[in-house]
Amino acid sequence: MDSLARIAVFISGGGSNLQSLIDASESGRLSGKIVLVISSRDNAYGLERAFNAEIDTFVYKVKNYAAKEDAYRDLMEMLEEYEVEYIALAGYLKLLPVPIVRQYKNRITNIHPALLPKYGGSGMYGHHVHEAVIKAGEKESGATVHIVDEIYDHGKILMQQKVSVSPEDTPESLAAKVLKIEHQIYPKALDKLIRETRKI
Ligand code: GRF
Repeated sequence: MDSLARIAVFISGGGSNLQSLIDASESGRLSGKIVLVISSRDNAYGLERAFNAEIDTFVYKVKNYAAKEDAYRDLMEMLEEYEVEYIALAGYLKLLPVPIVRQYKNRITNIHPALLPKYGGSGMYGHHVHEAVIKAGEKESGATVHIVDEIYDHGKILMQQKVSVSPEDTPESLAAKVLKIEHQIYPKALDKLIRETRKI
């Protein structure tokens, strides 16, 4: 077995968390290498980040297939072809197919821009999360890295870090504060998971 774990990162947008994982991998802070980036959108800026880092990419849209089963099979085959051992969701706005969640049980992570279990679940993504936190008058928010299971934003929490919410904060300023924390904890949490679970 390769000494570095083989990771696929799933994105839908800017991919700043993808970049933090690429940087951590390149500087040896992550005991894994990103072998594949899968995007649900063909215009995601994260694809460019992958290209710049010479990482293969794949745009995956279930609606491009005649049947869901064909789409799932294709994705599974792609993960097998790249010998993917861990999956990191980083701003991926789609649900992973259940067969893949089962196949990669306890080896799929996600990053969420709030302190789960608060402000998670369906509809809680992007600016919606920060708007809800501010509206509720919370004094603190933060970022959470968790294991992905079959329920949205539900799996075991691996790492969390808090930020304070000030009365002047807007959803945009809070998002920026939280994103900074995300970039710090995602590589750390993924590295820890790999070290604890991988049998070398
Ligand atoms: C992050 O806030 C992440 O927590 C959430 O989606 C956002 C993705 O940002 N799941 P980026 O694409 O990594 O810049």
